Amino acid sequence: MTFEEAKKKLSLYNQEHILKYYEDLNDEEKKLLLAQIDETDFSVIEAYIKKNTLNPKGVISPLNALEIPDIEIRQKHFTELGIEAIRNGIIGAVLLAGGMGTRLGSDNPKGMFNIGVTKVVYIFECLINNLMQVVNECGTYIHLFVMTSEKNHELTVNFFREQNYFGYDRDYIHFFRQEMAPAIDYNGKILMESKGRIATSPNGNGGWFSSLMRSELYSLLQKNRIEYLNVFAVDNVLQKIADPAFIGATIDNNCAVGAKVVRKSFPDEKVGVMCLENNHPSIIEYYELTDEMRNTLNEKGEPAYNFGVILNYLFRVEDLVKISNGKLPLHIVEKQINHIDDNGSIVKPSAPNGYKFEQLILDMIRELDGCLPYEVVREKEFAPIKNAIGADSVESARILLKKNNIEL
Ligand code: UTP
Repeated sequence: MTFEEAKKKLSLYNQEHILKYYEDLNDEEKKLLLAQIDETDFSVIEAYIKKNTLNPKGVISPLNALEIPDIEIRQKHFTELGIEAIRNGIIGAVLLAGGMGTRLGSDNPKGMFNIGVTKVVYIFECLINNLMQVVNECGTYIHLFVMTSEKNHELTVNFFREQNYFGYDRDYIHFFRQEMAPAIDYNGKILMESKGRIATSPNGNGGWFSSLMRSELYSLLQKNRIEYLNVFAVDNVLQKIADPAFIGATIDNNCAVGAKVVRKSFPDEKVGVMCLENNHPSIIEYYELTDEMRNTLNEKGEPAYNFGVILNYLFRVEDLVKISNGKLPLHIVEKQINHIDDNGSIVKPSAPNGYKFEQLILDMIRELDGCLPYEVVREKEFAPIKNAIGADSVESARILLKKNNIEL
């Protein structure tokens, strides 16, 4: 892309300031900036302009989950089905590790965080240990696709290599990068990370399948005839990955997606909740729940919106392919964004100073036909690490891991 072409593209979105320092750059830097402008999707700015009317909700009603007592009755059948699927090689796993982990406050990727007490135990290590349990039970490795971002790719890949993949078979671990989106200030102007580079951030966990499809790993998925992908977050150190009973239940119910859910521990807990939206399975964010919804009871006299998602889903690949042409809605998230100021000096804000744009995995549920909310025991499967201290923190996760006899 030439300078003139870049200027034209930017003028469509009122972002010409991106070229403010162009003349200060050397030839290589100029080339890189023009390439970044060329490949950046600036239509996110339109989402910012429409932010007050973005993503309107449909009519929300309750959705029942497959609850633990019902699962227990069919546990053996589900588990056998799941083990068979794993042994047939049709199950893969996707670790979402592209996030910035800002709340935890570490400069390294979240998975490199040591949560050990008497010994070193990394978050990545905990997850691989969890997956190894199923590998040992089934006697076969499961392909694990790790999503990183431009910001943490090298660090993540090098860390896995240094740690010898935590004992996992190296041939079964694959890395791919998610796409990035520009970040803006409160006036809708794209921030610059340096004089020659637009400030970008990972485009949200909903971008995982399009990023996987665009990577060379998609052919590996097809070659290995992987039919289902268990997608999970980096920060829940207690979750079961490629859980045979969960896989078996989703297959048995012929669902496009299964979603692990837990009972909320209090009505306002900050988890997305399974529901129907216009009679279609969907997820409503905790801040979108109205008082009326919070007080609605089901036929058992229990809260009707009580099953929170834990970001552990089993997706049927053929259904993902069907929806892959459509674009997921964009969400605008207030964040701290490192940038340069008007004098070209670097600013690392300690409080939010702008917005980034994200696609969310929960929006994929609404697009797909048929979702099975599958209840798991909270104390055994949900120990998210979002913060350094307090709720959903390293401290709270350590307590839960200890309760589950996991040595730290
Ligand atoms: P969070 O919503 O907790 O975001 O991610 P985060 O970026 O990790 O943390 P904060 O909000 O900055 O503190 C939930 C899961 O989705 C992944 C994360 O790595 C985590 O596993 N994720 C999130 C991505 O892979 N990419 C993204 O762009 C965002």
